[in-house]
Amino acid sequence: MPKEQSFAQRLIAWQKTAGRHDLPWQGSRDPYRVWLSEIMLQQTQVATVIPYYQRFLASFPDVATLAAAPIESVIEHWAGLGYYARARNLHRCAQQIVSTHGGNFPGSAAELAELPGIGRSTAAAIAAFSFGERAAILDGNVKRVLCRVFGIGGFPGSTAVERKLWQLAETLLPEQDMEAYTQGLMDLGATLCTRGSPHCPACPFADTCVARREGRQKSLPEARPRPPVPERTSSFALITDGTRLLLERRPPSGLWGGLLVPPEGDPADILAARCLQATELRELEELKHAFTHFRLTLRPVLCRVAAPPMLGESGREWVPLAQAATAGVPTPIAKLIRRLLKEQL
Ligand code: ADE
Repeated sequence: MPKEQSFAQRLIAWQKTAGRHDLPWQGSRDPYRVWLSEIMLQQTQVATVIPYYQRFLASFPDVATLAAAPIESVIEHWAGLGYYARARNLHRCAQQIVSTHGGNFPGSAAELAELPGIGRSTAAAIAAFSFGERAAILDGNVKRVLCRVFGIGGFPGSTAVERKLWQLAETLLPEQDMEAYTQGLMDLGATLCTRGSPHCPACPFADTCVARREGRQKSLPEARPRPPVPERTSSFALITDGTRLLLERRPPSGLWGGLLVPPEGDPADILAARCLQATELRELEELKHAFTHFRLTLRPVLCRVAAPPMLGESGREWVPLAQAATAGVPTPIAKLIRRLLKEQL
């Protein structure tokens, strides 16, 4: 394909030869049918929508019939399609079109976007397919295509990136052939420029796509930035007489609830509180452990004591060292105990 062809020209040519042409809502400029299909296709795959679309149209062939139908019947026709707010908005929208627009869909994207359940992108799709209006769409698929082809970084759901994408989408619009152009954007996102494994060799932008040139198909569009995971550091007193280890049962709720764990906190305080005296205190190698919501750095401190009493107090157990790692302790504690066994005790 010649490089000097515009984005829109390439896309339209590709849509005409390789795009989808036999979807049941294509070939109609009836805004009712176009609107119905676009609402059903929000967050839902084409293959899922087709039978619903056909059943719905058979029962509610026009906006007046839909507006007059009981909401229960509309919901019944929607059952299984999910996101039921769409069905309620659809019904409200039909009623509003009858009551305030004389039963006719408004003739511009701007007016369509005022109606219940019709956002900016859906309004543009309806206007492009029904009236050929030059209005830009920007749904999740289109964002992905634009981020990749034009190498746009940042999270596309952020206000700043979204504004940039809308601006770009507007400047790319062709002077004519809005139906093929709009359908082309949707088809490219759904069939070639897919999220997981884009089929780049078949793409009309294979030679100009920034993501492809830089091998960034996997990292564009960028994911939502995750808030940093909190980091915690804690000392654990590994109190041993050389043959046994002191473990204490945690309270039932909280981290490691109900499990046996060496005392956590400042080793000197821990020993004093338990009337124990150490003959040796030695810091061992740190261990990092990732939980779902935070990262913990465990600082083990070997606390050698003279032979302690055989019996533990309530919730406190002197466990033979060789068995401690398998005595129902959490995974990172088991690791610390296995390391301890390799120390000179
Ligand atoms: N997704 C959203 N609108 C669509 C349409 N008109 N055809 C195919 N997929 C779509």
